[in-house]
Formats: sequence, structure tokens, C-alpha cells
Amino acid sequence: MAARMSASDGAAAVPGGAVATGAAGGEASAFLAACRRQPVRHRPIWIMRQAGRYLPEYRALREKVDFATLTRTPELAAEVTLQPLRRFPLDAAILFSDIMTPLQGMSVELDFEPAPVVREPIRSVAQIEALPALVPARDVPFVLETLRLVRRDLPRGVPLIGFAGAPFTLLCYLVCGRPSKEFAAARTFLYAQPQAAQRLLTHLAEAMAQYLAAQAEAGAQALMLFESWAGLLGRREFERFALPAVRRTAATLRSAGVPLIYYVNDGAALMPTVAALDVDVVGIDWRLDIGEARRILGPEKAVQGNLDPAALFAPSEELRRHADAVLDAAGPAPGHIFNLGHGIWPDTDPEAVARLVDHVHEWESRA
Ligand code: CP3
Repeated sequence: MAARMSASDGAAAVPGGAVATGAAGGEASAFLAACRRQPVRHRPIWIMRQAGRYLPEYRALREKVDFATLTRTPELAAEVTLQPLRRFPLDAAILFSDIMTPLQGMSVELDFEPAPVVREPIRSVAQIEALPALVPARDVPFVLETLRLVRRDLPRGVPLIGFAGAPFTLLCYLVCGRPSKEFAAARTFLYAQPQAAQRLLTHLAEAMAQYLAAQAEAGAQALMLFESWAGLLGRREFERFALPAVRRTAATLRSAGVPLIYYVNDGAALMPTVAALDVDVVGIDWRLDIGEARRILGPEKAVQGNLDPAALFAPSEELRRHADAVLDAAGPAPGHIFNLGHGIWPDTDPEAVARLVDHVHEWESRA
């Protein structure tokens, strides 16, 4: 059931034309209903990193334009946001950008290689104090413009997710300078300079609150915070450093009136703590059984996840069984959004994604 994109204001159509609608084209969004733990006619699904290198059309564009330019050019960022929606009847779109983009707006110089590399890692109080506040309309206007363009061209019933990095995860990149397995410099910083770390986290929490509030104002219908490096922390350090910062961001966003999703990677041991956080949805990685996560998080939270991205490499019949295992574990209670446990891998076959989306959409009618 493909529907035409609405070019309602008659402006130039986004190249590529038709966008497939989720099974709910023109109807209320299954994704937003699930965020609010309301019953849905089909299980909503979207995929972390759904716009990206596994799509040949993304790679074709990247041959011509570097990543940073893509994120800073609203027409191109909007085009990339819509690319996966043209192929698959996904239930949500996610802004094409990066967690480091707003930091570039705060004068942090970095390169994407393709992972972010910060030229001058932050290690001192003086550097933290020199970090300016983020004024989204001044510092990252292109992100807000991208959201407006995407909203114009998305089919009705498919909402747009805005996002930011969670403060601790941003701290990891800022302090270490580049991704690493242990993020030793970031963890050392927490123990060696706890007050400086708190200060940086508070600053980032406020900046991301401003950033996400501006995204909601520009048209984002749900907001997601990525805590990609939560798994580096023991529960005590998570509670001391990462959590208060997220709480600060989340508190500001309550008045935005859109669902808030907190994705916690490698966070099985942290779930009892996360349960007390005032967010609508908790996203989890594949290591934790999603039924177990729901039991720990309780009936007040929706959950998002959690198929292993590697499962997309299984033969089709087995992929269906792996998806069923997630759906079975999540159970019939409202409040489950199907997703991968982490971002899709660049060498994934788009056909496997097509099969997964259809299979998940048919679940409620099979049950
Ligand atoms: O999900 C989407 O489709 C929206 C776009 C998006 C990107 N990055 C595009 C991107 C989102 C939501 C992100 C978030 C992000 N970025 C996170 C949190 C989610 C997670 O994966 O844990 C993190 C940790 C980053 C930091 C980052 N940026 C890394 C580690 C990398 C390189 C490796 C990778 O996964 O691709 C990037 C670069 C980046 N961000 C690319 C894309 C499509 C690849 C750049 C390229 O085209 O060369």
C-alpha cells in the first residue's frame, strides 16, 4: 500500500518520489500509540541507523558529499532521512544527523572518520568553562530546517523522531577524543576529577535539553536520547554521573508534550535504576530478554527493541524465528516498539530488512 508523499506546499518534491506508508498511512500512528502504551493494530517497527550505509542510495550520495556536509545541508539530510521510508513501510522516521552535531555547534572541532574524532579532547576545568551554551536556532539552524522539510514530506501517520546523545555518552567522546573499547580516559576522568565531570555533564544536559526542545518545536514528534556507552559504568557510577544528567534533560522536556525515549546500550544491570526515570520508553540492547526488561521496568514504561543486528544475517526462515522470539518475549501488553538492539550494520542486505518489517507487521494478525 504505497502512498504518494504530500508535496502540500507545492515546493520542489524530494527526489525519489513515493514513500511507502506504514500500515497506518493516514491513521493515527502505531509508533506514538505504543510510546504511550496504548493498544495498536500492528506492532510498530523502525530501525536504529535506518538511514545509512547499508542502503545503496545512501552510499551513492556519500560518494559525492562528505558526512558532515550531509548533516549540514537540510535538503540532503531530509532526503537521507526519507530514503529508508521509500523502501520499507516503517512506522517512524528518525532525523538524519549525529549525536556529535550539536557539539560542533558549540565550537567543538571534530572530524567523522567515519566515527567522530574530537581534535582537542576535554580534560580540564578551563576547557569545560570555555564551552559555550547551545542556542539551537543560532548554532544548528540546519537541523531544525531538516526537521521542517521532513515533516512536510512524510506521509501522514509516520511520525518523526528527533534525537540527541545522552550527556554521559557525549562526555565519553569529548574526553577520549575517539571511540575506544574501554573509554579509559573518560572513566578515569570520573574518578580523578569528579567535580569537573559533574560540571561537564550538567552543561551537556542543559545543552541537550535546549537542543531537543528546539527539535520538538521544529516538528519532532518523539525525542530520543542515546546512552550508547552506559555499559561502561557500574551501577553506582551510573547513578552518580549518567543518571542525574539524563534526569535534568528529561525534566526540561516534559513540557514539550512528546514521548521521550531513553536508549540504554549494554544496560541490563542498570534496568532497576532506569525504571525510576521519568521517560516514556526505554530502548534496550539484545543482551537482555525484553520480557525480563518489561518486568523490571514495570507497567509504566514502554520498551523498544531488541533484535540483535547480527540476526539480519540469518537465513529468512530463521530471521522470522528470531523476530518471533522478541515478539513472544515482549508479550501482548501494549507498549512495545520493535527495533534492533543497536544500529543496523553497514553490510546488511536491505532485503532482510524488508522481510523483517513485513513479518513484524503481520504479528498481531497471526497471534
Ligand atoms: O539512525 C539514523 O538513521 C539517524 C542517523 C544517526 C547517525 N548517527 C548517522 C551516522 C544517528 C541516530 C546517530 C547516532 C549516533 N552517532 C550514536 C548513537 C547510536 C549508537 O549507534 O549507539 C553514536 C554513538 C554516534 C557516533 C558515531 N557517528 C559513530 C560511532 C559513527 C561511525 C560508525 C557508524 O556507526 O556508522 C558515526 C558516523 C555516522 N553517524 C554515520 C552515520 C550514517 C556513518 C558516516 C558515513 O556515512 O561515513
